[in-house]
Amino acid sequence: MIAVATESVRFFENQFQRQVREGEFVLNPFERLTLPYLSGEVLDLGCGIGNLALEAARAGCRVTALDGSVTAIGNLRERAACAGLALEAREADLGRHRIERDYDAIVAIGLLMFFPRETAHALLADIAGHVRPGGVAAINVLIEGTSYLGMFEPGHYHLFAPGAIQGVLAGWEILAASIDAFPAPGDSRKVFETVIARRP
Ligand SMILES: C[S@@+](CC[C@H](N)C(=O)[O-])C[C@H]1O[C@@H](n2cnc3c(N)ncnc32)[C@H](O)[C@@H]1O
Repeated sequence: MIAVATESVRFFENQFQRQVREGEFVLNPFERLTLPYLSGEVLDLGCGIGNLALEAARAGCRVTALDGSVTAIGNLRERAACAGLALEAREADLGRHRIERDYDAIVAIGLLMFFPRETAHALLADIAGHVRPGGVAAINVLIEGTSYLGMFEPGHYHLFAPGAIQGVLAGWEILAASIDAFPAPGDSRKVFETVIARRP
């Protein structure tokens, strides 16, 4: 078993334990947006509780789902087995991870901001480099303007500059792109940038 001992993974571990207790398994808006663009072999990095991974598998994708949360991966494996879905779910420390092969789609929803700038950009470049021609990358990150920092380890996160993701995916066909702001605890806010793009 891999123990990923960052503050951020601990934050989500608690959230996932509550979600499992309360049976809360709902696709978030970014997952709902991404699902129709997925096909073939899919890598979901930072899959969380795995609602998108499960729905993609149900739609016929061959999904590999990675996350640092023991609770999330354990629960995802159970739900996939119950549904008879051949989905591979593994614990991984994504701050040290290198993608080993190419995929038709690589998803990183709400993940890359949990690493220092250099690591975040290295993983983003690794994602872009492992999407097959004609395949899709679906990236969602918190960007500058976000003032809710409760789920971050101090000094161990990166708020992307607006447009930075599209900059890395320059030359790709943009299938969907948005910036969305949401209120957060203590009068703060979270600002997300989402980009879904097809590699030429
Ligand atoms: C905001 S949640 C997003 C989960 C899911 N993609 C979704 O959209 O609901 C961030 C996820 O990143 C994972 N994560 C953060 N840091 C990680 C690390 N160093 N290694 C592996 N997973 C990590 C957390 O466990 C959590 O599941």
